Amino acid sequence: MADSCTYVIFGATGNLSLTKLMPAFYHLEEVNRLADCLRIVAVGRRDWTKEDWIEVARESVAPLARGGMKNEVFERFSQRMDYVKVDIDDCASFEAMANYFQQQNFSQNMAFYLSISPKDFSTVVENLAGVKLLDQQKGWKRVVLEKPFGYDIESAKSLQMQLNKFLDESQMYRIDHYLGKGMVQNLMVFRFANLLMEPLWNRNYIDHVQITHAEAKPIGTRAGYYDTSGALRDMIQSHLLQLLALIAMEPPASMDAEALRDEKVKLLKSIRPINKNAVNAQAYRAQYAAGTVNHQPAVAYLEEPGVSSDSVTETYAALKLYIENWRWAGVPFYVQTGKNMPKNQTLISICFKHPPKQFFRESQVKKMEPNWLVFGIQPNEAIRIEMTAKQPGLEINTRQISLDASMRQKGELANDAYEDLLLDVIRGDRSLFLRYDEVKAAWKVVEPVLQVWSADRGYIDTYPSGSWGPKDSVKLFDQPGQSWRTSLEPECDNV
Ligand code: BG6
Repeated sequence: MADSCTYVIFGATGNLSLTKLMPAFYHLEEVNRLADCLRIVAVGRRDWTKEDWIEVARESVAPLARGGMKNEVFERFSQRMDYVKVDIDDCASFEAMANYFQQQNFSQNMAFYLSISPKDFSTVVENLAGVKLLDQQKGWKRVVLEKPFGYDIESAKSLQMQLNKFLDESQMYRIDHYLGKGMVQNLMVFRFANLLMEPLWNRNYIDHVQITHAEAKPIGTRAGYYDTSGALRDMIQSHLLQLLALIAMEPPASMDAEALRDEKVKLLKSIRPINKNAVNAQAYRAQYAAGTVNHQPAVAYLEEPGVSSDSVTETYAALKLYIENWRWAGVPFYVQTGKNMPKNQTLISICFKHPPKQFFRESQVKKMEPNWLVFGIQPNEAIRIEMTAKQPGLEINTRQISLDASMRQKGELANDAYEDLLLDVIRGDRSLFLRYDEVKAAWKVVEPVLQVWSADRGYIDTYPSGSWGPKDSVKLFDQPGQSWRTSLEPECDNV
């Protein structure tokens, strides 16, 4: 059972809190993982009563509760809930909130979850410090920061400087919800709890690595944020570079937070900086045009409400990266992400080299297929290994066979990433949160591309909504004939 604590959610009435945080707390309640005196305080600008808030939370949790909402669980959950109106720019509101916590005898272990615009992070932290709510003399005080942490290296640095005035690094929990996903944690288990792969996990045996994150949805109502961000900042700088780091890092000295994060930072720092002259050869961007997604007509990005009609913000981004260390020198890592693609799919695909001598070439087999190891991150959590085998019959004909392991057995439901992460904050376990040097190193990887793209605002390629992205992104591949792998099973590929 986790410590007792007061979880204070800034931006509680916003989308993330309603669709992710409240359902996650509800599910933790259901499996009795919240201490009896743990309280959840929603902080919002609206003039709501606690009862109003509970009703709003009930409506958003109900459709998302796994296996349907259980009224008795929600009743228990609602006993923990509270609502406080705070104007984040007004010190007096913070004073009133601090007094309220004291009068009502709330636990002095406090986690402040900032599910608000990043431009307000430092104001909220300063105001919390002003009323001594970050003072750790009685109970721990932790601050959870949603992404993005900065907009580029400079803004990340200045945000960090602001926060450093009131918090030390051990109080900061920079969230990357990908690290809370079961299959992402499984990457580490697969690599470091099995000996089988380690001898092959290097430049001698691996031809290239691909990471694909596709979404079958548009930007929705997020134009305000997305049009100033784009796919490279939104997905690659954060989530996909984390996946790359976990796949490519060296085994950490231990599984404790600092050892693990040291290795990820070392790996991110080993990525060869992209020269500005090489941006066109190592990066590709595009925007969705009109099309059809899931049999529904989809409008072009430029027609989305709130997007400026001459926007060149990318909804698709791809990078080719090289890691300059002994393990990976010369192995390309291809990373791509896009909105309005045919389906939701996140995959890490590892393509092995051909054997040094191809004995069966002169047989009926025209082309030897390489071995692939594919991690299905979502929606299917699976591992697939593809190998060549002999077909039954008198001739030596070969075919591809696969070993498939699904991570979930029948009836086992997936937890949401946020459930794990919310508990980790209470436990004080920072291994699945980002350290500042890690965020900075990730900004450094994408910075040259961001700079070139922001200077070149004349043209952006497009792809039809519902397609697997711009055709020309295959130009990133080093070898002719190589292309993106977009599904666990090869026959569905867009080749
Ligand atoms: C968020 C991005 O961080 O991650 C979104 O801002 C993206 O644009 C989302 O859709 C993807 O997360 P998931 O868990 O749905 O794959």
